[in-house]
Amino acid sequence: MKFFVDTADIEAIRELHDLGIVDGVTTNPSLIQKSGRDILEVTKEICDLVEGPVSAEVVATKAPAMIEEGRKLAQIASNIAVKVPLTWDGLKACKTLSGEGHMVNVTLCFSAAQAILAAKAGATFVSPFIGRLDDINLDGLDLIADIRTIYNNYDFRTEILAASIRSVNHISEAAKIGADVVTAPPAVLQSMAAHPLTDKGLAAFMADWQKTGQKIL
Ligand code: G3P
Repeated sequence: MKFFVDTADIEAIRELHDLGIVDGVTTNPSLIQKSGRDILEVTKEICDLVEGPVSAEVVATKAPAMIEEGRKLAQIASNIAVKVPLTWDGLKACKTLSGEGHMVNVTLCFSAAQAILAAKAGATFVSPFIGRLDDINLDGLDLIADIRTIYNNYDFRTEILAASIRSVNHISEAAKIGADVVTAPPAVLQSMAAHPLTDKGLAAFMADWQKTGQKIL
């Protein structure tokens, strides 16, 4: 399973990258807004830091303009994946941009039917949003499982990029189902290391160690 970081915060990406756990980055207009940075500048910095795919999202809603924006974003670096929404126009843009050899991430996927269209249109990645389905009392992980089954049935090569990850459980369950990639906020990736029994066990070891009166250094 590949880990992408879902942020445009360069320092957060750097810390995780130094740990060797970053296989790519995803951004979106909301994350660019949150960063307070210029999209072209911050995306270039991210691409210089991370070797893997870096998703940068178009903001046009009609296919011709999406394609133009996608071509401009793709010029930032060779590891750009152009992100387009899963709309009819987004699928047209996906078909054109992937045909030109660009990686394309089709985002805002909320159904298996949409995921089939993304694969047929040549998407490199499809991004089903788990958390936002959970928010409306549906099961986002069920969607990941359905897409996995369908893609396996027909040997679709599009990678399932589980997005809108809100918890460690989302990550481990998506991994069990067989999502190819998860993209998660830095805080969720960091919280994967936490377990109360680890804290409790470490406290007991430290208390016993104090009693020995020894030092290692
Ligand atoms: O990659 C898409 C993701 O950022 C959406 O997450 O938490 O805003 O639903 P969220």
